[in-house]
Amino acid sequence: MSYSQPIGVFDSGVGGLSVVRQMLAQLPDEHIIYFGDTARVPYGSRTPDEIIAFGEQIVSFLQRFDVKAVVAACNTSSSVSLPVLRERFHLPVLGVLEPGVRAALETTRNRRIGVLATAATVNSGAFPRCFLAYDPGVTVHTQACPRFVPLVEAGRIDGPEVRAIARQYLQPLREAGVDTIVLGCTHYPFLAPVIRELAGDAIMMVDPAEETVKELSALLASLPLSSSRSTAGSADGQAAEPEGHRFFASGAVNSFYSSGRQFLGDFPFQVEQVNLSGIDSKCSTGGL
Ligand code: DGL
Repeated sequence: MSYSQPIGVFDSGVGGLSVVRQMLAQLPDEHIIYFGDTARVPYGSRTPDEIIAFGEQIVSFLQRFDVKAVVAACNTSSSVSLPVLRERFHLPVLGVLEPGVRAALETTRNRRIGVLATAATVNSGAFPRCFLAYDPGVTVHTQACPRFVPLVEAGRIDGPEVRAIARQYLQPLREAGVDTIVLGCTHYPFLAPVIRELAGDAIMMVDPAEETVKELSALLASLPLSSSRSTAGSADGQAAEPEGHRFFASGAVNSFYSSGRQFLGDFPFQVEQVNLSGIDSKCSTGGL
């Protein structure tokens, strides 16, 4: 392991870019290899076995770039597959769920916490389990939001339909009297302006990305693997050479690119397409 190796980040789609956004702010010298599994999004309606298999396949792919650590920038994957990935791969694999729990516990005052998440995450019970392990006195209300991810993937983060859906998902949490809501899917921070407005000032929002990247930063410093210069591996696993961040998508490159542009602003990036059937072999370059 060396400080100059890149960090692998993956999600079912563009949601993990909310974590990338934080990485660019907190760890500007690190190089990122991002994989968005847009051909198989949403993970929220997948079975645990599928989510685990996808995670294994993606981490194997990221390993070709000689990554020094992997961030599962996906709550669904973090809820379901993290123990398997940590057991199978001999490199640090961080999730986003536990950092989100810690941040929410620091935020709440009435210890009534709401979690907006995918159906698979809610069904896994991972959020209540993790909250109760930290604080048995906390009350956790989880709300599945199956319609959010397709909207974010399509770049639709505001408008009457988005608002009507968000209002419907927030209602049970408001009735439960939560004072803190965890955006328990990495796609949801892109809907945060709408969610925040509809939830009102009395409810605080937690985006786990910030705490996740703090944890990553502490991990790299402790190993020590923090980077202060620019190098990254190559797609065919050949010798590392100086290079920028790389973004891969298993589905349409152009829609990933336009959502990414919307979410990351002026940050310059290209998207390369990975054919899932050939994920163990070649990548073809795409992007705009
Ligand atoms: N962004 C992911 C998460 O944090 C996955 C969403 C999905 O594909 O359903 O859960």
